[in-house]
Amino acid sequence: MTKFLSKWFRKFHRWIAVPTALAIPIAFVLKMLGDENLQQAWARLEKIPSILMLIMAITGAYLFLLPYIVKGQRKKRVGAPAEADRQPIKD
Ligand code: HEM
Repeated sequence: MTKFLSKWFRKFHRWIAVPTALAIPIAFVLKMLGDENLQQAWARLEKIPSILMLIMAITGAYLFLLPYIVKGQRKKRVGAPAEADRQPIKD
């Protein structure tokens, strides 16, 4: 399960990074321009950068915690023989 989640969260984080990296500077430039019409047109799309950042923060937090989650799972398996120990002994 962790393997599946880490694969998809990493993929998601990577691909959502593209629109996020575009949307944030665009939003900043539009605000700086101060044009009335542009401001009104942007008002309807204003939430998009925030939603993208929220997705990045959630998936990023999971990626950040991943090494600790894996460490915890390994510790739980202490007592079970390690992968190397399960190999057949060759003479
Ligand atoms: C908002 C909070 C964010 C957090 C907590 C976060 C956290 C992380 C973490 C922990 C990783 C994995 C690093 C590793 O492999 O050790 C990562 C990878 C990455 N992050 Fe973020 N990130 C955030 C936002 C962003 C944003 C805003 C962008 C770009 C717009 C971004 C782009 C990327 C990319 C491209 C990777 C590499 C993904 C891959 O493995 O292919 N992240 N991030």
